[in-house]
Parts: sequence; structure tokens; C-alpha cells
Amino acid sequence: MELRLPVCVLLLLCATKVSNGGRILVWYTEASHWINMKPVLETLVDRGHQVTVLVPSASLFMNSSEPSRFLYEPFDVSVSVKDIENIFEEVLHFSLYEMDDMNPFQIFIRFLDLMKNNIKVSFKYLDGVVKSETLMKKLKEGNYDLLYADPIYPGSDLIADILGIPLVFSLRFSIAHNVERMCGQLPAPPSFVPGAMSKLTDKMNFSERLGNVLFYALQDLMLEQFMWKEVDKYYSGVRGTPTSACKMMGNADIWLLRTYWDFDFPRPLLPNFKFVGGIHCRPAKPLPNEMEKFVQSSRDDGIVVFSLGSMVKNLTTEKANMIASGLAQIPQKVLWRYSGEKPQTLGSNTRIYDWIPQNDLLGG
Ligand SMILES: *[C@@H]1O[C@H](CO)[C@@H](O)[C@H](O)[C@H]1NC(C)=O
Ligand SMILES: *[C@@H]1O[C@H](CO)[C@@H](O)[C@H](O)[C@H]1NC(C)=O
Ligand SMILES: *[C@@H]1O[C@H](CO)[C@@H](O)[C@H](O)[C@H]1NC(C)=O
Repeated sequence: MELRLPVCVLLLLCATKVSNGGRILVWYTEASHWINMKPVLETLVDRGHQVTVLVPSASLFMNSSEPSRFLYEPFDVSVSVKDIENIFEEVLHFSLYEMDDMNPFQIFIRFLDLMKNNIKVSFKYLDGVVKSETLMKKLKEGNYDLLYADPIYPGSDLIADILGIPLVFSLRFSIAHNVERMCGQLPAPPSFVPGAMSKLTDKMNFSERLGNVLFYALQDLMLEQFMWKEVDKYYSGVRGTPTSACKMMGNADIWLLRTYWDFDFPRPLLPNFKFVGGIHCRPAKPLPNEMEKFVQSSRDDGIVVFSLGSMVKNLTTEKANMIASGLAQIPQKVLWRYSGEKPQTLGSNTRIYDWIPQNDLLGG
């Protein structure tokens, strides 16, 4: 009986020791994917975990010299920052300016071209990890407890397998939910779950449902031919045995989906798929004075925050004027993140900014 208290204390001490935090390895990523990931890593550090981020020598957004509370594990890749910029520029130009004037066949051909290029570069990044004996040795000796990855760049599942550690994915979606369905086994009945990027909704008539079925089938076929086969070949080469990359992704323990049930169409989920949309949001800080005045001047109409994302800073004069004249017609005050020349049709309700504190504007 008298032993009970000391045993309790001992157990408690053990528990605190165990909960002292894990060693988390973080897969490299890019642009908004990295912006989104950073606050999550900050929180992990707050909770006592040690966070180590893999950072390629060529990256637009990741910088291993930037001071931070997590550790960096930089590695060399055989592509330059300029190469990466060119690739992004090409993809953006295609989606912003070329796509509208193309027929579906032309879009398909161009898209394939961009995809092939993208995979080639992804493998060059992966080479930087897998083919570096020094880095692989370091990772093995790092005794990590978990790999945290956005699967936009392939290879995290391969490394988690080699290191023998659990894998947690964080993703927004893949085209036609291909990765979630084929690798994560997430059900997606085409009768009411519109394929991601199909532009359909969950209210479909017969022909739209048929279109949805075809959309899934075509995307699966295309990705199988032009992506999965390549990734399988790469993985098989590294492991020395025939390997299905999709199966390996299916080994992920948890899939964190960066959306929310009220932001997406209803669909069946699995217990290891969790909605974490807004996980990067933080309490709003006060706005700069000038911006605060502008926002308050909107009174009951409210404000509109307009941004084309982390990658699109400017547009052609024609597109910018078109957007500006559209924005000029709404009663709200508009804060537009735009670094191009001031459009002539800019309304008095709209202001353009090089950068906007999006979290503080929307959180306030
Ligand atoms: C990386 O961060 C360092 C330290 O903040 C800074 O001096 C350097 O300019 C940054 N490099 C790039 C490419 O942004
Ligand atoms: C189904 O909906 C589409 C889009 O609203 C419409 O164009 C089409 O005519 C509809 N088809 C049928 C058979 O109702
Ligand atoms: C946007 O800016 C980049 C870099 O300054 C430039 O190369 C590109 O041509 C610009 N695009 C447009 C549409 O003005």
C-alpha cells in the first residue's frame, strides 16, 4: 500500500520523460506549401519536439540560412534556382494565358509536356537525398521518430520506408483525387463526389455524372502512364526490387487534408484522413495604420482580399485591367495583392499592395 505513491510519482516522471518530444524530419516543399507548413512546425517546436527540415540547394521559398527555431538539413541538387523559376513561369503562363485559347486536345498535350518536365526536376531533387551517401547516413543516424511531408514532391514515402519510421502526409488535393483514392484508398463514388479540378459540383445530372466517371478514368490513365510508371521505375531502382510508389504512399499513417468539411463537397472519409484547413492561421495582429483606415472606411459593406497566390505577382496589362474593372463594380473595399503596374481601370474602392498581411486582414 505504502508503495503506491512513490510508484505513481515514478510513473509520472516516466510519462513526462516520454512526452519530452519526438524528433521530426520534414520533407522539402515549395511556395505556399512551405508557407503553410511553417506555422505547423513552429507549433511542434512549441510543444517540445525537435524539427529538422530538408532544404534543397535550389528553392524559391526555402532558405536554410534563414534564422528559425527548427533545424535545417541542407542538400545539393543538380538544378539551379533559375531552372526552377523558368519551370514555374512556364506553368503559370500556360494556366493564366494559354489555356483559354486552346482546345482540350492541345491542353492535354501541353499539360503532359509540363508534367514530364516537372517529374524530371522532382527526381533531381530526390537524387540529392537518396544518392547522397553522407546525407542518407546522417538521416539514418538521426533516429527520427516521424517523417512529415507534403506529397507534392515524390520520395518522402520511400525515405520513410528506408528509415523505417511512420509517415504523416499533409495535402490539399491531387488532380481527380488520384493519390487519395488510388494510394490512400479513400472512396470517391463518381455519382456524387466530383473529381478535383473537374469543375463539377456534387449536384450532377446524368450527363455530368458520366463526364465525372470519364474524368476520373482519363486522369487515372494519364497519371499511370506518365507519372506513376516513372516514379515506380525510380523507386524500384533505389530499392533493387519492383516497387509500387502508390502502394508505398498508402503506408502513410495519417493524411492531413488542408481543407474543411464546410469548404468541400460531402464525401466518404476514412479514419486516418483528417481535415486541418486553417491549421496555419494565427490570431490577427493589428494592421498598419493606413490599411486599418482603408478597411474601416468600408463600414458595413466589408472588405474583399484578392490574391492570386504566392506565385502570381503580376499580370498582363489586359488581364489586370479586366480584373480591376470587375472589382470596381462591387460595393466592398478591395485589397489586391499585385506587384504589376497600376491598372488604368482601378476603381476608387480598390488598392493594390506588393504584400498584404492576409492572416491579419481575414483574422481581424
Ligand atoms: C536567406 O536568408 C538569409 C538570412 O536571413 C539572407 O541573408 C539571404 O538573402 C536569404 N537568401 C535568399 C536567396 O533569399
Ligand atoms: C446537365 O447539366 C448541364 C450543365 O448544367 C446542362 O448543360 C445539360 O443540358 C444537362 N443535361 C441534361 C440531360 O439535363
Ligand atoms: C512579371 O514579372 C516578371 C519578373 O519581373 C517578368 O519576367 C514577366 O514578364 C512579367 N509578366 C507580365 C505578364 O508582365
